[in-house]
Amino acid sequence: MKDRIITSDFTEVDIEIEKTLRPQGLQEYIGQERVKKQMGIFIKAAQKREESLDHVLLYGPPGLGKTTLANIIAREMGVGIKTTSGPAIEKAGDLAAILTNLKEGDILFIDEIHRLQRTVEEVLYPAMEDYALDIIIGKGPGARSIRLELPHFTLIGATTRVGLLTSPLRDRFGVIQRLELYNPVELATIIRRSSGIIGVEMDDEGAVELAVRSRGTPRIANRLLKRVRDYCEIEGQGIIDLKITKEALDLFEVDAVGLDQIDRTMLITIIEKFDGGPVGLDTLAAAIGEEKNTIEEVYEPYLIQLGFLSKTPRGRMVTSRGYVHLGLEILLKKEADPDQIKINFYSNEEETNE
Ligand SMILES: Nc1ncnc2c1ncn2[C@@H]1O[C@H](COP(=O)(O)OP(=O)(O)OP(=O)(O)O)[C@@H](O)[C@H]1O
Ligand SMILES: [Mg+2]
Repeated sequence: MKDRIITSDFTEVDIEIEKTLRPQGLQEYIGQERVKKQMGIFIKAAQKREESLDHVLLYGPPGLGKTTLANIIAREMGVGIKTTSGPAIEKAGDLAAILTNLKEGDILFIDEIHRLQRTVEEVLYPAMEDYALDIIIGKGPGARSIRLELPHFTLIGATTRVGLLTSPLRDRFGVIQRLELYNPVELATIIRRSSGIIGVEMDDEGAVELAVRSRGTPRIANRLLKRVRDYCEIEGQGIIDLKITKEALDLFEVDAVGLDQIDRTMLITIIEKFDGGPVGLDTLAAAIGEEKNTIEEVYEPYLIQLGFLSKTPRGRMVTSRGYVHLGLEILLKKEADPDQIKINFYSNEEETNE
C-alpha cells in the first residue's frame, strides 16, 4: 500500500501522537457505547467477586481503539498488563515463559492474535481453560507430561481479522466485542479532546469537518489534526476553523467524506471495468493492484459504512450513492437492456449535498 495520509495502520508519525492522546480510563474513552457499558459491568462484577476478568476478544478495523481499550481494562481492574503479539511469540516455550511470569489477576494482551502459530496456540488452550501449563518431560516412550499451575490471568486478544481465528481459540473467549467505526459526532468529540491536549485552538465547525473526513477512525482523526495544525500555523490565524480545515484537507487530497485517490480509483475501476459490479474480491484485487487483505480490512469497511459500496454474495458493487459521490450519473436503459448501465461524467466541481 502506498503512503496514505489516511491509512488506518499504525505508522511512525503515530508513535508520539498516540502516547499523549490515548485515553486512560473508560470515562475518557469516547463512543463504542455498547462495548463500554458491557465491559464496565463485567469489570465491576469481576471485582465484586474478587475474580479475574473473563478472557476478552476485541476485533475490528485498525485504529479504532483495541489496544487502548485493553490498557484501560487493566487500569480499571487495577491489575498489571503484559503486551505481546501473535507474530512475536515464535515458540511454545516463549509463551510458556510469558505465562509463568504473570501475577494473579494480570492481563496478557496478545495483539494480532490471529497470527499465532498453531503449536503456540495449543499451549493457550489449557492455559485459558484451566490456568494450567502442560509440559512434556523427556523424549520417546519415556516421555511424560506434567501440569504446572498458572496464576488466574485474563487474556485479551485483539485482531483485525476475526475470521482467521481458529474456532477452538475463539470459543475459549468468554467475552467477544466488535468495535465499530465511529460516527462524526463521536469523532468530533475525540478531536476536541485531542486538540485540547496538544494545545491548539479549534472551533466546533472545524472539528466537525475534520471528523467527517476521518473515516470513522480515531487514529486517522488524530493524525489529520496534527497535519491541519501544521497547515494552520503557516496559513492560518492561530485558530483551526472550517475554512482552514477544508483548505488543509483539500491540499492533502482527502475529499469531503474522507476518501483519497486510492478509494476513488477502486470505485471507478469497479464502475468502468466491471459495470459497477458485482465483482469478486480476487478479480478486484488484481485490477487495482492491491492485496485482498488490504481491500477487505482497510478500504471496504469505510466505503460500506458510507453506503458507497455493497457486498453481495456475487461480489462488490458500487451503489448509486457511490456513483453520485464520484459525480457520475447512471442512466439505466431499461427497455434496451436492463443490465446495461451508461455512465455520463459531469462536473464534480459542485459537491453533492450529502
Ligand atoms: N474511544 C476512543 N476515544 C478517544 N481516542 C481514541 C479512542 N479509540 C482510539 N483512540 C485514539 O486512537 C488511537 C489508536 O487506537 P488504538 O491504537 O487503540 O487502535 P487499535 O484498534 O489497537 O489499532 P490496531 O488494529 O492498528 O492495533 C489511540 O492512540 C487513541 O489516541
Ligand atoms: Mg493496536
